[in-house]
Amino acid sequence: MTAPLLIVTGTGTGIGKTVVSTGLVAAWGRRGLSVAGLKPIESGIDPAAAAAGDVGELGRVSTFHVTRFTPPYLLVDPVSPHLAARREGREIDLRVIVDWVAPIRAAADATVLELPGGLFSPLTDTLTNANLLTALSPSKVVLVAPDRLGVIHDVLATTRAARAEGIAIDGLLLSSVTELDGSVGTNAAELARVLPTVPVLGVLPRAPAAALLPHLDAVLVALSLAQGTAAPRT
Ligand SMILES: Nc1ncnc2c1ncn2[C@@H]1O[C@H](COP(=O)(O)OP(=O)(O)O)[C@@H](O)[C@H]1O
Ligand SMILES: [Mg+2]
Repeated sequence: MTAPLLIVTGTGTGIGKTVVSTGLVAAWGRRGLSVAGLKPIESGIDPAAAAAGDVGELGRVSTFHVTRFTPPYLLVDPVSPHLAARREGREIDLRVIVDWVAPIRAAADATVLELPGGLFSPLTDTLTNANLLTALSPSKVVLVAPDRLGVIHDVLATTRAARAEGIAIDGLLLSSVTELDGSVGTNAAELARVLPTVPVLGVLPRAPAAALLPHLDAVLVALSLAQGTAAPRT
């Protein structure tokens, strides 16, 4: 049986995807699995200091030795991957990424992969993260969105566009923000009403990583990804 690949994407950038991804890697690892946390494309990163970025954070929580596998696209400029790559005279090739992920997925018990930016952020002039996601054939896809005013639009737009590309979102995780507005506390329930086909997996509080672990373990359970693995140590 192929080991599970869980893709974490979002409605945008700076909204908690890395916090969710590292938490999912850690929660899965506590169930005794060899887990790889990957980010194949990261912009705004000096390739010589990748440990400082999302790639480094994912590497530190992984129980599979991902640090031996250098991601194919570590791009210096802090702009969209398609532009950062072009400025370096490169073009992102989905096949290169698929071929980089395959042996890691085959060797690890489970893989969590964070996509850069939002689901429709461009990777080239013609391809977006949605094309990469499809090429990777994930077991499950989680959409992260910030728990703030405007999220209903962003989630509806993203999930509708995803469906048009043949992508099913398996669950939605709201990520708490620091600047609270009048919608906070209502968004999860309202999204469940207007988008009943996509389960809301929870609202992640603002908290240190250790305190988020039970929430992210519950996400694994809700996605049926915790079956056959030991319950985490408490
Ligand atoms: N649930 C949370 N609790 C505490 N800090 C958070 C939480 N979610 C996001 N953050 C912080 O917000 C910032 C952006 O989150 P990050 O996961 O890096 O977003 P993304 O990966 O979507 O760009 C980071 O500084 C991160 O530590
Ligand atoms: Mg990130």
